[in-house]
Amino acid sequence: MTGIFNFSAGPAVLPKPVLARAQAEMLDWHGSGMSVMEMSHRGKEFTGILAKTEADLRRLLAIGDQYKVLFLQGGAIAENAMIPLNLLAGRSADYAITGGWSKRSVEDAKAYGKINVVASSESDQYQQVPDFASWQLNKDAAYLHICTNETMSGVEFLDLPNTHGVPIVADMSSHILSRQIDVSQYGVIYGGAQKNIGPAGLCLVIVHEDLLGKASSMTPAVFNWQLQAENQSMINTPPSYGIYIAGLVFEWLLEQGGVAAIEKVNVAKAKLLYDCIDASDFYVNRVALANRSRMNIPFYLQDEGLNAAFLQGAEARGLLQLKGHRAVGGMRASIYNAMPIEGVQALVAYMQDFERSH
Ligand SMILES: Cc1ncc(COP(=O)(O)O)c(C=O)c1O
Repeated sequence: MTGIFNFSAGPAVLPKPVLARAQAEMLDWHGSGMSVMEMSHRGKEFTGILAKTEADLRRLLAIGDQYKVLFLQGGAIAENAMIPLNLLAGRSADYAITGGWSKRSVEDAKAYGKINVVASSESDQYQQVPDFASWQLNKDAAYLHICTNETMSGVEFLDLPNTHGVPIVADMSSHILSRQIDVSQYGVIYGGAQKNIGPAGLCLVIVHEDLLGKASSMTPAVFNWQLQAENQSMINTPPSYGIYIAGLVFEWLLEQGGVAAIEKVNVAKAKLLYDCIDASDFYVNRVALANRSRMNIPFYLQDEGLNAAFLQGAEARGLLQLKGHRAVGGMRASIYNAMPIEGVQALVAYMQDFERSH
């Protein structure tokens, strides 16, 4: 099937030129006679790829020299455990629950130390980020953990609480590189690659050097951030093909004009879809206006009995993977950087047609 638009929340759509280039380079990378998959991770070809990938990411996010960039395996969920192991050092940590993923982070962290839930929108079905004034922050916390874009419920942070110096650790899996951020406001930024970066199997950790060297002796070496930083993410074999694809995505993003330029497109895409939902009584999005995600847009048909027909009709038009997360139901359109605006236009046209005919 060609000419489709893939709205999957992840693993998700990748830029077509990136896939085409990976295909062209598949059997013989730059005259090496080898696929990147076949290269020694310590050879000069791959170490060159890794260095360029890191440099391009640093450029895209203006990451300062005080931050280490790690390319790890295990995905974001492994980091849920590795964050307390690397940072707690016998102290407690603050966590905000703003959706299914930050709730999962709390569950995963609890085994490793004292976790204080300082804010939660669970009783409100995760329809907003609780007002920062209500957060019960602890000034002696080792860190504050937040998920800045909740992929399931479509809730995004547009600003940050004032933690009075407590480092913020942010799960940015589903909106990293979609908007400009000030990295210096964070102690740690992490995210699985399979939404805005590349294939599953790669997890990025961007960590301020002041937070290194605190790991518990229980921390596996491959997840010890200091050890990995000292060894260019090569304590073990890094997810080399994933890193290569991430590097191609970063080059593509730079060609688009970088994060500032793609953010403008993302604003336009999200507006198109939210405007369509808001203009109709047929569809609804329940997230507070100030916290609506630009990347993951859940919406519900007022008549849920039409869900199956909606999805079937969408598929017939090549609009794929629109079913909402099993925990929240309804529909969800994930419109990451690689989703062209034409995909959102096609979805909106379909939604309007479906509404008219039902
Ligand atoms: C915000 C967020 N955090 C964490 C995860 C879990 O990532 P992984 O399955 O790569 O561990 C996801 C996955 O979809 C996510 O969207």
